Amino acid sequence: MTQDELFKVLVAHCKEYGFIFPSSEIYDGLAAVYDYGQMGVELKNNIKRYWWEAMTRLNENVVGIDSCVFMHPKVWVASGHVAAFNDPLIDNKDSKKRYRADVLIEDYLSKIEEKISKEVAKGRKKFGDSFNEEEYRATNPNVLREQKKYDEVHNRYVAAEQANDLNEYRQIILDCKIVCPISGTCNWTDVRQFNLMFSTQISNTGESDDRIYLRPETAQGIFVDYLNVQKTGHMKLPFGIAQIGKAFRNEIVARQFIFRMREFEQMEMEFFCRPGTEMEFFEKWKQNRMKWHVNLGMGAENYRFHDHEKLAHYANAATDIEFNFPFGFKELEGIHSRTDFDLSNHQALCGKKIQYFDPEMGESYVPYCVETSIGVDRMFLAVLSHSYTVEELEGGDSRVVLKIPAPLAPVKVAILPLVKKDGLPELSQEVVNEIKYDFAYQYDEKDSIGKRYRRQDAIGTPFCVTVDNESLQDRCVTVRDRDTMEQVRIPIAELRQHIDEKVNMRGLLRNL
Ligand code: GAP
Repeated sequence: MTQDELFKVLVAHCKEYGFIFPSSEIYDGLAAVYDYGQMGVELKNNIKRYWWEAMTRLNENVVGIDSCVFMHPKVWVASGHVAAFNDPLIDNKDSKKRYRADVLIEDYLSKIEEKISKEVAKGRKKFGDSFNEEEYRATNPNVLREQKKYDEVHNRYVAAEQANDLNEYRQIILDCKIVCPISGTCNWTDVRQFNLMFSTQISNTGESDDRIYLRPETAQGIFVDYLNVQKTGHMKLPFGIAQIGKAFRNEIVARQFIFRMREFEQMEMEFFCRPGTEMEFFEKWKQNRMKWHVNLGMGAENYRFHDHEKLAHYANAATDIEFNFPFGFKELEGIHSRTDFDLSNHQALCGKKIQYFDPEMGESYVPYCVETSIGVDRMFLAVLSHSYTVEELEGGDSRVVLKIPAPLAPVKVAILPLVKKDGLPELSQEVVNEIKYDFAYQYDEKDSIGKRYRRQDAIGTPFCVTVDNESLQDRCVTVRDRDTMEQVRIPIAELRQHIDEKVNMRGLLRNL
């Protein structure tokens, strides 16, 4: 299966098994807005719990808050979002379709990278064990030609990005003959800036303009609550404030399923520190966050850091943790050293002191800040795309199994009476009563046991427990492991402990 096909299959699987539905589907849906179904909400909650507990429980100096989506409009002036939270937008005059100019260029560059990778793969196949990739890249004429093309366009693109030169974006698109995928023409408008914030009206802000915004990031809620938390919590620097919540962006290119949505959820943590110490904490949080990801067991090779060439208006250092999604390595989480940009701007605009008195230094200052910011939905997509597996079984059969890290799985255990009679449903109820206070479970007595196993594999349930006639005598049940399909017979009294060892969040957190 190609990566593209895998992605389509994954989207269909998410719908079929109650993970994700298009929003308002009975009205044909709403672009880039999705609902989480009965399985999806459980997985999403488990992801959030893993993050929240890792942040606020394992770090004594990180506390949580829950601020509102609506904030005073001045917040977004101070944060720079009103002036600068823009995407460069371009329209094709023939198809009337709108695109992000930077994405068109990045896609063009990705295609060149793909061509180079294919050439390298050919070389590897041809030369086998004696293949020297470095030498091949430095000498193969096809690779050299493509690399030269890549470097030229990339250098122009980076320069245009840094200078915010919209004309140069357009010129690159024209020079590279990038066409609209719908009309196939190069008939482009000028490039314009497009602000990504959604707005609505509120009647009592006291401003002449009563427009307010739906927050495009949760971070500003933390900055405006900084003083309240510091004072009421008697917090000493360095300390962090964590928050999980919805954010909204009017994305022009909303695609790739839940990778880029208009309504999404973020898990953000702002770590406040003494000016001059921010790089130390930037490094610390980089390592901390990478460890959190790798700890899930989805393969260290599927993550990489990508340092930013162009820094956001508020940052003096920034990196992304990228994940190997079905469509390639893409940003999963951002880590920024935001300096004192946000607190200083809020201080200037609201006219109140937002400072910390440092008893060791005997002076007050505006703290610096390091931010970690990850999208819940993107994390969901990372987990799901990595977990989706098709396995060939003996006898020509196959199974689809979601190998979701067990502590994140939506359902931890399925209780399955072998038949719907002879007292097996009653004994199964006893088993349910034994485990229901500890684990999310499903009880299923419909269809053959094989079909029931397949249904549980498809939603990623780590354990299936079968109650059979022998169970009535020996009070033991058969426990099937999702990944190995191995079966063990264990007493009902030991079931809880057996399941707990693999699925509890405690184990995951302990490894951090
Ligand atoms: N406070 C900093 C901030 O918001 P960002 O890089 O724009 O930085 C942080 O966003 C994270 O939020 C991203 O790494 C991504 O995981 C997630 N994210 C951003 N835009 C998103 C969107 N439109 N849909 C889904 N997730 C998104």
